[in-house]
Amino acid sequence: MRSVLRVALLGLALLARTTVAFLSGGSGISSHVNITGTALLQEVTKACRIVIEEAGHKFQPTGSSAEELVQACLGPTATGEVSGAKFRSALQEIYTQNGLIDRDFVNSAPHHFNSEAFLEGRGLITEGMVAIKANIRKENFQAARETLGRILHTLQDFYSHSNWVELGHNEPYINLIRPDLPLENLADVYTATCSDCEKGNCPNPFLPSILQEKKLTSGYMGVFYASKPKGKCSHGGESDLTSKIVPRGGINKCERRLDNVGPHNTAVNIATSASVQLLENLRLAVGDKEFLRMMGIARSAVVCFVVDTTGSMSDDITEARAVVNEMIDSKKGTQDEPSEYILVPFNDPDFGPMIRTTDPEKMKEEIAKLKPHGGGDVPEMCLSGIQLALTGAPSGSHIYVFTDAEAKDIELKDTITALIRRTKSTVTFFMTSSGRRRRRSTAAEAFEQYKNLSLASGGQAILVSKKQLPQATSIIRDTSTSALVTILQRAVNPGKKETFLFTLDESIKNVTIYITEANVFSLTNPEGVSQSNSEASGKLGTIQTVGNLRRIRLNDDHGAGTWKVLIDSLQPYTVKITGQSIITFIYDFVEMFKGPHPGYAVLSGRPQAGQPSTLLLSVVGKKGPSSLTVGNIGLVTLSGLVAVNISKMTDMGNGDILVTVDEVPEGEFLVVLTGKDKESKSEFMRQSTTAMSVSKVNIQAVVSSNVEPGKSLELPFNVMTQGAGGIFSIIAKNDREFPMTYPKSLSLTTGGNINDTLTITPPARTPSGTDVTVTIEARSSNGVDSNYVILRLSVVNKITDYVPPVCEVVEVLAKDCPEDVSDCGPFQWEYSANITDGNGTGIDSISLRQGNGTLTHTPLENTIIQAKYNASCCSQIVELIAVDDVGNVGKCYHSIARSGGPPAATFSLSLWFCLLVSAFIVRT
Ligand SMILES: *[C@@H]1O[C@H](CO)[C@@H](O)[C@H](O)[C@H]1NC(C)=O
Ligand SMILES: *[C@@H]1O[C@H](CO)[C@@H](O)[C@H](O)[C@H]1NC(C)=O
Ligand SMILES: *[C@@H]1O[C@H](CO)[C@@H](O)[C@H](O)[C@H]1NC(C)=O
Ligand SMILES: *[C@@H]1O[C@H](CO)[C@@H](O)[C@H](O)[C@H]1NC(C)=O
Ligand SMILES: *[C@@H]1O[C@H](CO)[C@@H](O)[C@H](O)[C@H]1NC(C)=O
Ligand SMILES: *[C@@H]1O[C@H](CO)[C@@H](O)[C@H](O)[C@H]1NC(C)=O
Ligand SMILES: *[C@@H]1O[C@H](CO)[C@@H](O)[C@H](O)[C@H]1NC(C)=O
Repeated sequence: MRSVLRVALLGLALLARTTVAFLSGGSGISSHVNITGTALLQEVTKACRIVIEEAGHKFQPTGSSAEELVQACLGPTATGEVSGAKFRSALQEIYTQNGLIDRDFVNSAPHHFNSEAFLEGRGLITEGMVAIKANIRKENFQAARETLGRILHTLQDFYSHSNWVELGHNEPYINLIRPDLPLENLADVYTATCSDCEKGNCPNPFLPSILQEKKLTSGYMGVFYASKPKGKCSHGGESDLTSKIVPRGGINKCERRLDNVGPHNTAVNIATSASVQLLENLRLAVGDKEFLRMMGIARSAVVCFVVDTTGSMSDDITEARAVVNEMIDSKKGTQDEPSEYILVPFNDPDFGPMIRTTDPEKMKEEIAKLKPHGGGDVPEMCLSGIQLALTGAPSGSHIYVFTDAEAKDIELKDTITALIRRTKSTVTFFMTSSGRRRRRSTAAEAFEQYKNLSLASGGQAILVSKKQLPQATSIIRDTSTSALVTILQRAVNPGKKETFLFTLDESIKNVTIYITEANVFSLTNPEGVSQSNSEASGKLGTIQTVGNLRRIRLNDDHGAGTWKVLIDSLQPYTVKITGQSIITFIYDFVEMFKGPHPGYAVLSGRPQAGQPSTLLLSVVGKKGPSSLTVGNIGLVTLSGLVAVNISKMTDMGNGDILVTVDEVPEGEFLVVLTGKDKESKSEFMRQSTTAMSVSKVNIQAVVSSNVEPGKSLELPFNVMTQGAGGIFSIIAKNDREFPMTYPKSLSLTTGGNINDTLTITPPARTPSGTDVTVTIEARSSNGVDSNYVILRLSVVNKITDYVPPVCEVVEVLAKDCPEDVSDCGPFQWEYSANITDGNGTGIDSISLRQGNGTLTHTPLENTIIQAKYNASCCSQIVELIAVDDVGNVGKCYHSIARSGGPPAATFSLSLWFCLLVSAFIVRT
């Protein structure tokens, strides 16, 4: 394994130098990522411009970085800092899934448009588009991003793996995203397509007849077997075993070589346009705002409350309600205003449903509806509630749990830890002491459990009396900001006197120190000024004491430099220092994979013990990564031990750094980054929020398709261990309580592996677009070692309606418009059209895309919808977008500009027509 990794890394370093290749992998090395990134940035910019201009502002990014784009996109009205981290994470997620097609489906022809699998390849794109639209409508953005990354790969491969370029095309093949249009003139399996190329690389090896008849073909690829139909082209390259069979050679344009610069570049350009077309269809179908939310562009704080509603919780619910209301009112109009609210009630034995809304008033209403009831002496379904929140909320959310009792469902704790690590969300517990009679030890034990969960997530566990709860909730206001960063985090156990050094940079604001379970401490600034725990309001900050928590807010004029906090306690304690800053980083543990197109995959579970681990880290600065210099990257255990064995750091460009650590420390650890901000010349220090740990067990699984309601999906998985063999229990959970069957235990030997299958069956009534998160855990019989894999799959109806809405022009009344456009001022024109959904289930929305006039239409429930548009003769173009229930997009376009007019005037008055441009639809 070690040597495999070395080889992969070496390969990567080589690739990094040759740069442009249609290879998957990191941004610095791959055309797939570059094409995907270019297309995404282009569409995001378009969506941002529209949204900002519709709000009456000017769209003015200060530069081209992702960070500056986000800043400009969220508009000038909101005050406060905004972080580009969520956008960077969204991009990274799409890139990774894009690359994974080369690992998980390396030998599947349709995923790469290899071996003339054109219909099947388009089927994947079609199916993916349906799923993405359904997911976005249900706000399942992560599922949407993952599918998007995958189908973009397939779409892009078409231009590299087929002869589309050699047939002389300069534009995308629109039919690949229009399942209502036929794929025509495909070379059949008996038609020879290539001539022999002995030396392996020949420009344009296609048979003249193929080119003359404009027959579409693609290269055969054999990863495991060297066979192909007679006379067919090969994909080519070392890993394609068919390339040695006559006709030899290969037709792929994956890499740029001296002899194929032209075709390679053309393929890249068309693949980029094709990706843009696909994204545009998506954007029109779901709307600009939802498209941007999918891309992680929203005021980024999402607040999520998980509230115990049993009988004794009346005071707590009142407080939760007060915090929500106060937060909504005080943060309105700032960048800190949460972009989304989530509420999950739990009781016994019920929990949920999860309420999600972007509307603050709706959140107020929902939380007002919570009424304490039932319960009594029984503990509650706390972890089930948290599980709903973790799977439903976007990654990196802040989850606040209000309860006064132990969790009955504590057996879920490993699943919860797995979800915390996967989502990097934080969980903070407010546990109040209830009047309920119960053994003291039970309450203490329950709190221990909550402490462990909060610690793993980088949250807090606060134990307070019901009376003091209102003071404790200030922590919620601290964390609901879009640019929260962690500067230092430690858990000291057993307790001892210790000094913690931390660096504050110029960018950092609202610095807060949280100490739990320790009363004696002192704080010293870079000038040597100190403040002790006894000075509630001192020269450095204000100290608030509530329950087991000390919260120290530094004064606004705190200086930059190295600070010290000394804590003196013999009890185990925790310390955490946070602030607000745009300078931050995102990271994932990854594993390299080999094959024809090497790359890396994000680990869904814990990294392997006793082996080098690789992480992909991306720095985020105010003006993009180029405004920062990276200093040290390291791993540090929660208790403070530093692992310095970073054996390799590869700069992948764009702020992405691949880091290999030879030996990961035992126990829970965090990622640490230091560096310098070039503009302010100040040193910064950041830590990851979520704790991670390694495991000797490894479990792998891949979701290869969506599942239809009422149908079963088989999920093969593989378990192996480097540790002691024996019986391992398999524990699988899903957040929708869909029925599952799987082996409850497996017998493993050291170094051995076992394949098995989990079957999941969503009930027939499951709405299309629902996503389900499946956690499969493998645990050794003594419980010492375990690992998990988290899978997300979408339940999507089989769709047969690919026909976009149809627009029929009824009338254009423009005779009043003067010939000379400069006289247009006082005159009006009118346009009317009938819009229908053909054979489909109905129109979902009609909107105005271009034109400064007014649009009215009859109710959408009608079979024929009559749309009317009026505008000044100065506004010469109208474009209406109609989207049907399954996301097919139809356009009505009309221009009254006369030929010879301004550039927009491509159509003369008599030449009215209606384009049904995009209609991407989707499904096999
Ligand atoms: C794609 O590559 C070009 C040329 O190397 C580079 O200028 C551009 O920034 C890259 N785009 C993205 C999104 O990575
Ligand atoms: C909490 O975590 C610590 C350290 O990992 C462990 O020793 C302890 O048993 C855990 N407590 C509970 C209640 O699980
Ligand atoms: C950060 O500090 C500023 C200035 O003191 C204050 O106005 C703002 O409310 C603080 N933000 C948070 C989230 O506490
Ligand atoms: C499990 O499946 C993988 C991939 O198909 C294969 O490489 C491996 O040998 C299988 N393991 C066993 C024990 O059959
Ligand atoms: C448009 O719809 C109206 C109402 O259904 C119908 O009367 C009219 O004939 C339609 N016009 C065209 C051109 O289809
Ligand atoms: C509607 O369905 C009929 C019969 O299934 C078919 O012949 C017709 O072409 C369809 N029309 C459209 C616009 O898809
Ligand atoms: C709408 O008005 C804006 C500014 O007034 C102008 O730039 C734009 O071209 C107009 N759009 C159309 C379709 O006429």
